[in-house]
Amino acid sequence: MQAQHTAIPSEEEQQISWKSPSNLAIIKYWGKYGTQFPRNPSISFTLSNAHTTSTIRYAKKPTPSKEVHLEFKFEGKENALFKTKLLKFLESIKSHFPFLTEYNLLIESENSFPHSSGIASSASSMSAIALCLCSMEKSIVGTLQEETEFLKKASYIARLGSGSASRSVYPSLAFWGESERMAGSSNEFAIPYTEKVDPVFLSFHDDILIVSKKEKSVSSTAGHKLMEGNVFADARYQQANDRMDSLLESMRTGDLETFGKICEDEALTLHALMMCSDPSYVLIEPQTLSLIKEIRNYRAETGHPVYFSLDAGPNIHLLYPDHIASEIESWKNNVLQGFCLDILTDHVGKGPQKLSA
Ligand code: DP6
Repeated sequence: MQAQHTAIPSEEEQQISWKSPSNLAIIKYWGKYGTQFPRNPSISFTLSNAHTTSTIRYAKKPTPSKEVHLEFKFEGKENALFKTKLLKFLESIKSHFPFLTEYNLLIESENSFPHSSGIASSASSMSAIALCLCSMEKSIVGTLQEETEFLKKASYIARLGSGSASRSVYPSLAFWGESERMAGSSNEFAIPYTEKVDPVFLSFHDDILIVSKKEKSVSSTAGHKLMEGNVFADARYQQANDRMDSLLESMRTGDLETFGKICEDEALTLHALMMCSDPSYVLIEPQTLSLIKEIRNYRAETGHPVYFSLDAGPNIHLLYPDHIASEIESWKNNVLQGFCLDILTDHVGKGPQKLSA
């Protein structure tokens, strides 16, 4: 006899939205093992203008099933590639959110920065989705009422989506990875960096000088994997720990020079590691090097504390404290603009924001 399916009227649709920022690592995460555990601790500035807004709409399935049911739209349009990736991710975290299979889900995401700007979006997008999922749990199951627990789980889930995303759930500065130096630090989730920091660092600008809008030829995930065979890997992980000690001390005392030196050394080390991977690869462009030289020359001439960093791509992050912003503004417009396609202005931000109930 065939089972009779009664049409159960679906519950009213609910929706949750979060806006979550990108972040810039000063001590870089490069190399991972197991389920997205970092080989060394990292620390980042949380940004503000570069962010992703994600909305989850959910309604109870009329008939239960074991699979996650997802519709996905990126910037208003269906996107099969992103949907496949996201569905795989949601299937992989079902055990953390058992209610996921009970609902039909529609996830919509949009970035504040142009999709083809060459800016990595995994940190902002995965953290926005992780925050939405935690809000769903809070509302459906009633757990995660306490903010610290909520953000810890959001960071944990974001990490499973993309390592660097674990750091985006906190304001200003976030620390990820086990370190003897940092109480409460973990490989499983990031923590807010709450040690004493000279206020000058919280006033930092981070302008992104776009030198290429092309998608990078080697993904970060593939880059992390290549660290496994890199002959410099162990020395690198030790170096990251040593640099972390000096960096934290420089931020405590307001030592901009040491901070800037470590910040630039980390950016160049990251790209040096790519160049000496097997196979080797190069993500920087000629304009990246021209800009690095311009920045160093300008700093030598003016004495202004302006520094660069790089993500896993050719674009330069220009870092400087707010008290020199007007001088930097005219140099940016008169000189730096000539070396790049676009400049996106950003600064240290207040962390993610919930947009609706
Ligand atoms: C260079 O977090 O993008 O930006 O964990 O494979 O998603 P997956 O990699 P991802 O790596 C980011 C690397 C980095 C440095 C950093 O953000 O710490």
